[in-house]
Amino acid sequence: MDSLKWWQKTLVYQIYPKSFCDSSGDGIGDLNGITEKLDYIRNLGVGAVWLTPVYVSPMVDNGYDIADYKNIAPEYGTMADMENLIVEAKKRGIRIVMDLVFNHTSDQHSWFKESRSDYKNSKRDWYIWRDAKPNGAAPTNWRGIFGGSAWTFDEATGQYYLHTFAKEQPDLNWENPEVRRVLYDIANFWLDKGVGGFRIDAITYIKKPVVLKDLPIDGPDGMSNVHMATANQPGILKYLHEFKREVFAGKDIFTVAEANGVSAEELPRWVGKNGAFDMLLEFNHMNLDMEKSSLWCRPVPWKLTQLKKALSDSQKATTENGWYPAFFENHDQPRSVNQFFPKNVDKKLAAKVMATVLFTLKGTPFIYEGQELGMTNTKWPSIECYDDIASKGQYAIALQEGFSKQQALEFVWKYSRDNARTPMQWTSAKNAGFTSGKPWLSLNENYNEVNAGWQMQDEDSVLRYYHRLAKLRQEYDILLKGSYEELLEADEQIYAYMRVMKEKKVIVLCNFSGKEKEYSLPKLSGNGKLLLGNYADAPDQILRAYEARVYLCEGRTTIEGCSK
Ligand code: GLC
Repeated sequence: MDSLKWWQKTLVYQIYPKSFCDSSGDGIGDLNGITEKLDYIRNLGVGAVWLTPVYVSPMVDNGYDIADYKNIAPEYGTMADMENLIVEAKKRGIRIVMDLVFNHTSDQHSWFKESRSDYKNSKRDWYIWRDAKPNGAAPTNWRGIFGGSAWTFDEATGQYYLHTFAKEQPDLNWENPEVRRVLYDIANFWLDKGVGGFRIDAITYIKKPVVLKDLPIDGPDGMSNVHMATANQPGILKYLHEFKREVFAGKDIFTVAEANGVSAEELPRWVGKNGAFDMLLEFNHMNLDMEKSSLWCRPVPWKLTQLKKALSDSQKATTENGWYPAFFENHDQPRSVNQFFPKNVDKKLAAKVMATVLFTLKGTPFIYEGQELGMTNTKWPSIECYDDIASKGQYAIALQEGFSKQQALEFVWKYSRDNARTPMQWTSAKNAGFTSGKPWLSLNENYNEVNAGWQMQDEDSVLRYYHRLAKLRQEYDILLKGSYEELLEADEQIYAYMRVMKEKKVIVLCNFSGKEKEYSLPKLSGNGKLLLGNYADAPDQILRAYEARVYLCEGRTTIEGCSK
């Protein structure tokens, strides 16, 4: 009996609409552009497309500041375009997944305009207003995630409002039942339009502590990261269960919530039958190269064993409860070939190593646009070239910490969210075929070598490797259902694990280093069938630089040289 749901068997493709495909020539990607590319997406084996927000927005944070949840941003198209996209996608077996941003709205949302208009307005309590401290300072010393105070003073009514992110993104007050009701109504509005699920933004921040108070200072600005004060507060799950009951329960859709600050041990409370969501995007494997304070100017060295442990912990935590959304990229992260590999890496091999892991962990792979081409980070000559609000905030913090402009810029090169937001590289034509106009954000200049057009022709390309992996996942049930067991845990070069189902095993070996490595799994050469690799051949017992292999072993397999 096939007990898996459709979204467990498929692939999710994340689209950043502004940068995906511009059909109108105004330099900004749009919904009709996405519709044009549905066949490309279907050919990847994708069954769900997650759109980052496409609603009406002043775009201070590129749509994560919503001014109207039930209408489409005019730069992206119309509601008719959206309905057409949903229908055309469905024809190709693809469901559209919407991004719900419910921690905050735009300051241009009519609710906030009302809320700030008068102390006595009925929507005053829809947001979080507090008096200044007796000395006139902000109510607490919290630093917003994009830098600067998490509080902004509003002259008209003489109080401060709270914003976890930018000042243009005031936080909603989830304690107010009217607020929750109207948010559930919005989600149901989109379900009625036929969407296949939701990615739910910044969900760990919705519940604020009962008492809002100062925390120990953690930066030269005299502030403390708001995350420490408001993430994952006791009582949050009560609201999330209500959300589930009122919106998702019993529907053939999936939910995946962005949950920075939830550890692997806590996962069972959040996902699965008794949890609030189907999947949780946690960042324990993504935040390894940064200090907890999440300031970009405090990078820390990391080891492969940390990455392996974070992934293994999440795999274990989702064995009994929920389901794992495997991901290495999204619109907030640098490109994975830059993040997980040294500068001099062969980027094509590296992109394939990441892809191998992405598709062979237990869970649903989430592919971020361009990842399937091995798109890479960009480096622009000054902060003015950047659009990302977080990059600007972090640049300012680095200067405040005493770094030079050049050093601050180097942090931006490494971590900027614009690394992932450069336009999609379709062809080697002008502007990579993304737009006939002037692109809203510069392209990565490598689009002549890295683009979908070329890669379709080239058997050895990253794109064709993704196609092969997708096919493998369809052909071998064990990749969907087999349990996960890590091998060679202490190895700092190789990430090795197996997926096990009855007498079958799939063994995955990935060399994350530039050095050749002998590995001691000798019996593999006897009865292991190579399913896929990123080199043309596969000599026994040697893994070359950045080599990835996937073997299938049937019958009894003894694995020597490791604890299994
Ligand atoms: C999430 C989004 C990010 C956005 C933030 C505020 O982290 O992924 O892009 O800036 O929430 O909504």
